[in-house]
Amino acid sequence: MVDNRTWADKIRALKEQKNAVILAHYYTRPEVQQVADFVGDSLALSQQAADTDADIILFAGVHFMAETAKVLSPDKKVLIPDPEAGCSLADSCDAEAFRRFLEAHPDHIVVTYVNTSVEVKAMTDICCTSSNAVKVIRSLPADRKIIFAPDRNLGDYIKRVTGRNDIVLWDGACHVHENFSLEKLLALKKEHPGAKVLAHPECKKPVLMAADFVGSTAAIIDFVGTDGGREYLIATESGILFELREKYPDVNFIPVPPIDSTCGCNDCQYMKLVTLEKICRALETETPEVVIDEEIRRRAERSIRNMLALK
Ligand code: 13P
Ligand code: SF4
Repeated sequence: MVDNRTWADKIRALKEQKNAVILAHYYTRPEVQQVADFVGDSLALSQQAADTDADIILFAGVHFMAETAKVLSPDKKVLIPDPEAGCSLADSCDAEAFRRFLEAHPDHIVVTYVNTSVEVKAMTDICCTSSNAVKVIRSLPADRKIIFAPDRNLGDYIKRVTGRNDIVLWDGACHVHENFSLEKLLALKKEHPGAKVLAHPECKKPVLMAADFVGSTAAIIDFVGTDGGREYLIATESGILFELREKYPDVNFIPVPPIDSTCGCNDCQYMKLVTLEKICRALETETPEVVIDEEIRRRAERSIRNMLALK
C-alpha cells in the first residue's frame, strides 16, 4: 500500500512539472490540506481561482467549487479528483424548479449562495458566500425585493441580521449543518461553562441562537485568533478542526456532535471523497476535467464577478 507521504511527494513533483495549483477547502482531509498550495473557505477559494496564473487548477473540494473556478478561469484546465463529490445543499436547488420559482417571483433581485450549480448561478444577479452574505444583501437597494437561495438557514440568519424581512427564501439546506444536536450542544455547554460556541450560519436557528459567534469557516478561524479564549465548541464540519488545532495548538476545540452520533454526520462525506490517491491520478491523467457550456458560463460569471467586485 502506498503511504500518504509517497502520494504527497508524487503530487508535489506533478504539480511542478505541469504548473498546477491545488486549491483545497478547510473541510477536506488533513493530508489533502497539507498538500494544497492554498487552503481557504468558499470566498477565498473563488478569489484564488480568479487570480492564479497556473495552467491547471486542481480543486480539492466539491463540484460546485470546481465549477466556480472554471467559470472564473475558462482558459485553464480545472480538475476535480472525484466528480462524485457533490453537495446536498447545491442539490437542493434544481435548476428547472428554480427557473419556475423565479417566474413566480418577477422583479426580484436574485441572490444565490455559491453552493449552487452553474445553471442556477446563470439565473442569478449576484452570488454570495457565508463570508459576505450580509454585505451582499446590504449592498442592494432597500426598495427592491430579493430572492435568496438555496440555504434557508443562512437566508433566515441574514434576514435577522439585516432586518430585511421581505427576502423570499428558497427551501434548501445542507444535511451536515442541519444535523447538529441542540440537546448535545447544551449538555456540552454545561460541562464546559467557559467555552464559547462558534457556529456556521448553515446550522438551524436554535443552534445559532445558542452560539456566541456565527460566521463562515474562515471567520470562525479568525475569531479564535482575536478572541484569545482557551476552549471552544465548534458547530461546523469537522475538517475545520485540523486548521484550528494547527493554528492554535494550546486551545481546546470540542466538536458539537450530530443528532445521530453513530452516523458521524458532522463530516461532509462529499468533501472526504477527495483523497491523495485521487489527486495524484487526476494530475497524472489531467482528468476528470470540469467542462461548462460557454453561454451558461458567461451568464454565471457575471453573478460571481458582481460578488467579487464588492470589496
Ligand atoms: P464557507 O466555506 O463559506 O464557510 O462554506 C461552508 C460550506 O459549507 C462549503 O460547502
Ligand atoms: Fe455541501 Fe454541506 Fe458538504 Fe458544504 S458541508 S459541501 S454545504 S453538503
